[in-house]
Amino acid sequence: MDIKQIFRNNQDWITEKLKIDKDYFRNLSLGQNPEVLYIGCSDSRVTAEELMGAKPGEVFVHRNIGNMVANTDLSAMCIINYAVNHLKVKHIVVCGHYFCGGVKAAMQSADLGILNPWLRNIRDVYRLHRAELDAIATEEERYNRLVELNVQEQCVNVIKTSEVQKASKERNLVVHGWVFDVKSGRLTDLKIDFKHILEEIMEIYRII
Ligand code: CO
Repeated sequence: MDIKQIFRNNQDWITEKLKIDKDYFRNLSLGQNPEVLYIGCSDSRVTAEELMGAKPGEVFVHRNIGNMVANTDLSAMCIINYAVNHLKVKHIVVCGHYFCGGVKAAMQSADLGILNPWLRNIRDVYRLHRAELDAIATEEERYNRLVELNVQEQCVNVIKTSEVQKASKERNLVVHGWVFDVKSGRLTDLKIDFKHILEEIMEIYRII
């Protein structure tokens, strides 16, 4: 991609927006009030706002390799804290995707340096669900299922945080698990049972 073209694209975008609403950017500068926190993969094909048809100001976004929510990740923990306690989002979405390089790498034996501890979180998901995954006949199906189970486990990690435990008690905050299919463009709701997971989680991870 031509870097100079990016700036020309930006100018075209400004012109386009101002044609429809001359106060568009002035209004954006007044503040943000997103109702959704989206936690997704950094993969360049999984364009958070575009795949949801979301406009600027509508979604608070956090992306990393493999859409992970690790409790030692200061960035992810700050994002959740800010989104829940300050922006008062109503929904937290963890969105994984099929053909995820992070999940694929976690299924293979390779020394990837600093990526090792990060991908180990995905290997832990495999270990938790080993019986189900090992029973799957083909590698492709096993890979797809690990993508889904990883989303589910990252939702569980979101629910473990004190911010989410508190907010789900005090107001209607819901955690969703989605998966995006790069091959079809389709977004699917995995329909994780938020209330049930929350109850189960509270037996061990109750903070509040
Ligand atoms: Co990915």
